[in-house]
Amino acid sequence: MNKTVLVTGGAGFIGSHVVERHLNEGNTVVVVDDLSMGLLANLPENDNLTFFEKSITDTTFMNDLLVKYNFDYIYLLAAIASVADTIERPYESHQVNQEANIAILESLRINNLRPQRILFSSSAATYGTLPDLPKREDGPVRPATAYAIDKYATERFVLTYSALYDLPAVAVRFFNVYGPRQNPKSPYSGVLSIITSALQENSVFRLFGDGLQTRDFVYVKDVVAALKLAEENDQMVGEVFNVATGTSRTLLDAIKGLESASGKKLTLKKEPERLGDIKYSEADISKLTSMGYTPMYDFNAGAAEYWESL
Ligand code: UD1
Repeated sequence: MNKTVLVTGGAGFIGSHVVERHLNEGNTVVVVDDLSMGLLANLPENDNLTFFEKSITDTTFMNDLLVKYNFDYIYLLAAIASVADTIERPYESHQVNQEANIAILESLRINNLRPQRILFSSSAATYGTLPDLPKREDGPVRPATAYAIDKYATERFVLTYSALYDLPAVAVRFFNVYGPRQNPKSPYSGVLSIITSALQENSVFRLFGDGLQTRDFVYVKDVVAALKLAEENDQMVGEVFNVATGTSRTLLDAIKGLESASGKKLTLKKEPERLGDIKYSEADISKLTSMGYTPMYDFNAGAAEYWESL
């Protein structure tokens, strides 16, 4: 049976991969994206895809859309994802990252719409600068930016609605996701997209700090697979899951991996550590693996496929 799927932020990096997967499965997909960060070029031509260039903050539009389609799956991926942006525009980003999502939940509740699954994209940023590693979902959080505060609060809203009403939801905390279609154009873009772009253009990569900071880099296709599992596995409902690989590597190691995937040498310029940077990050993914998840891409496989896609 074909499904009807809403992907807010579907023209963005992660969203466009979710869209692609559902179209490949023959499902009907509706994307709402204001193209503030997403790109139309990220979306394929497909008769089963309907695109609306709209902000999720247009609550009348969103309410009408939800009623009209009565979606089976709802992906809440639209966000102001640049942390720097949310610090500069805390109220505007709060309206997108939190209020608009609450309005969607309210539309579902009030109109008695009951999707099979709601998937909310939270972030490793919720853990903040707490030093304990690896990060566990039942461990402490200390959201320290407007972005992280809204992600954490919205995660709680979504899961609370899941518990109170028949609105089965799963929240996922993405770690450092990388892969095709990640936009390298902002200094706050994912570092691997900035590195691949520097390798492509033979331009200088600015390395902030000593390069020994670690991250849990997860390939976007593993993220899509984790989200698919969250659609299907009822045991995941009402819960939050780290989405990562459970292993971390230093930035210098990641650079080496991309150099070897590309056969090119990166030109580095060392700069002081970025203010507020987290030194070490790694996820405990045992909660997700206990649900049946196995990451399919180790770093070298992900880096190779990413480079090939460019
Ligand atoms: C990620 C988020 C960030 C958020 C943080 C909290 C992304 C893209 N960034 O940051 O907004 O505050 O999680 O969980 O999702 N680096 C360089 N040169 C560059 C760019 C980055 O050396 O041109 C370094 C950074 O200083 C950092 C590392 O690379 O040490 C990774 O940076 P980034 O990809 O931004 O990820 P996070 O720091 O994890």
